[in-house]
Amino acid sequence: PRLVLLDCDPGTDDAIALWLALASPEIDLRLVTVAGGNVGLAQTLPNALAVVGLAGARVPVVAGADRPLVGRFRSETDVHGADGLGGVVLPPGPPATPGLAVDAIRDALRGAAPGSVTLVGIGPATNVALALSAEPALLDRVAEIVLMTGALGEGNWTQAAEFNAAMDPEALAVLLSCGRPVVLATLDLTAQAFVTPARIAALRAVPGGACLRAAAEILAAVPPSRRFGFKGVALHDPCAIAWLVAPGLFATREVAAAVVLDGADRGRTRIDRWGRDKAAARNALFLESLDADGFFAMLAERLSRLP
Ligand code: BDR
Ligand code: CA
Repeated sequence: PRLVLLDCDPGTDDAIALWLALASPEIDLRLVTVAGGNVGLAQTLPNALAVVGLAGARVPVVAGADRPLVGRFRSETDVHGADGLGGVVLPPGPPATPGLAVDAIRDALRGAAPGSVTLVGIGPATNVALALSAEPALLDRVAEIVLMTGALGEGNWTQAAEFNAAMDPEALAVLLSCGRPVVLATLDLTAQAFVTPARIAALRAVPGGACLRAAAEILAAVPPSRRFGFKGVALHDPCAIAWLVAPGLFATREVAAAVVLDGADRGRTRIDRWGRDKAAARNALFLESLDADGFFAMLAERLSRLP
């Protein structure tokens, strides 16, 4: 299995991504770090703990940044609800592991072999960027950085920017330019993981425990998006985990990727899909398409393994 450190901001889809990671033997989840994002850190931290607790997992959960590197914190409660989980109440989880995400990530990297760690980011990139900036010598431990962030086309926060990229573009810039391979699950990809009432019903019909049932409730609680004519929503964050579990579900393309830091387009990811800029180094693997039926079948099967 891959040794994985997961940074998140639960977050309805973060919760499902965490359960998918915890249920998958392809992933050896060593650390969960939490940032403010979908809602404030005061809520994302207990949410992460509750999600881990419901799965009966023992992985350390450590609090991280409550704001981006630059600028003020904003949140997204109209999608995820004031509590971040769409109003679905989980039993309280275990206490957080003391310390700060930036130190916990560095400690985990220090103890690992070169090229052995996969960093996964499904929230604002602050915690991971802080850790790698504080101790760049640890970059050689990193095999790959898998991010749900950005958009080829229109954003979902501003017209230009996707939420995670918009929340901390400087942190994302650190990761995109760090020299390690970055994998991008953008809005264009996650739109293909489209949650419809029929897919929620199919998940509900699968025998499973409390995690599977809570996942179905959470999916049902997310309001259908205007972006998709109110027919459903994109299941963003589990796509990043699915890349580690079942890469055969994806078609990919190597691209040059950067993030805009200035002006009205702040937070826009610039992804040179067709390699127009011959001089630009291809620093990212763009996840281009997803076998959605295979993805939802895999998700249901994995969630059914949890308590
Ligand atoms: C991203 O922002 C949040 O709403 C989701 O959890 C996901 O990480 C999608 O833009
Ligand atoms: Ca998220």
